[in-house]
Amino acid sequence: VKSEPLKVMISGAPASGKGTLCELIVQKFGLVHISTGDLLRAEVSSGTEIGNKAKEYMNAGRLVPDEIVTAMVKARLSREDAKEKGWLLDGYSRSATQAQSLEELKIRPDIYVVLDVPDEILIDRCIGRRLDPVTGKIYHLKNFPPETEEIRERLVTRPDDSEEKVKRRLEVYKQNAETILSTYSNIMNKIDGNRPKDEIFAEIESLLSEVQKDKEKLKLGK
Ligand code: AP5
Repeated sequence: VKSEPLKVMISGAPASGKGTLCELIVQKFGLVHISTGDLLRAEVSSGTEIGNKAKEYMNAGRLVPDEIVTAMVKARLSREDAKEKGWLLDGYSRSATQAQSLEELKIRPDIYVVLDVPDEILIDRCIGRRLDPVTGKIYHLKNFPPETEEIRERLVTRPDDSEEKVKRRLEVYKQNAETILSTYSNIMNKIDGNRPKDEIFAEIESLLSEVQKDKEKLKLGK
């Protein structure tokens, strides 16, 4: 009996490691990774209407208006691959209104994973972060340096990764974190994100495998 695919929401402060861990989760569980930050950055670099609107908010370290992001997420979640393979929603919900919008659509994750990392580490991670525009891979100059000189030369820095902007993003995150929790408190798993990534992943992997088993049991019991 094939059970319903997994639905996962991952959250955490800026640079808590969401993108890095999502890469590993996708490899293992084959979920469709939906990152609102990545989707918005793609709109900005293609110069679309959404991108032009979103850009000023993103560069200021503020949240893009709910209606823009919600429409984007709704459209992506309703595509066939997400329904078939399950999804991994990264960076949404980011406000109480966003969480409410999903509830109204009866879209609810099976599990809500929150990465917990101390502030001073987050700032260092943002300052050292670099992205590979060719593969989309996330690096860190100290923690995860690029494999070759060729990759190093093409790495780019995100415009919102300056110390001042990271502090602003962190403030915005803290203002919203509590209000989102009330929607997902019964499925929340807080994880220590200040460890080697393989250790963090091992913990997430066992949590998701548990959820998957529970879903299979539920299906069999029907
Ligand atoms: P978004 O792209 O979601 O940014 P964020 O939440 O600030 O998260 P980051 O991408 O900065 O970090 P991450 O947690 O993915 O960490 P990473 O794995 O890269 O959003 C950007 C902007 O878009 C927002 O500010 C907002 O304007 C807008 N936006 C997005 N969603 C929105 C929404 N729903 N509503 C409204 N606006 C929205 O890791 C960071 C660094 O640390 C890397 O260098 C990595 O190599 C390193 N690292 C990772 N894990 C470890 C580890 N375990 N040990 C050591 N180093 C590590």
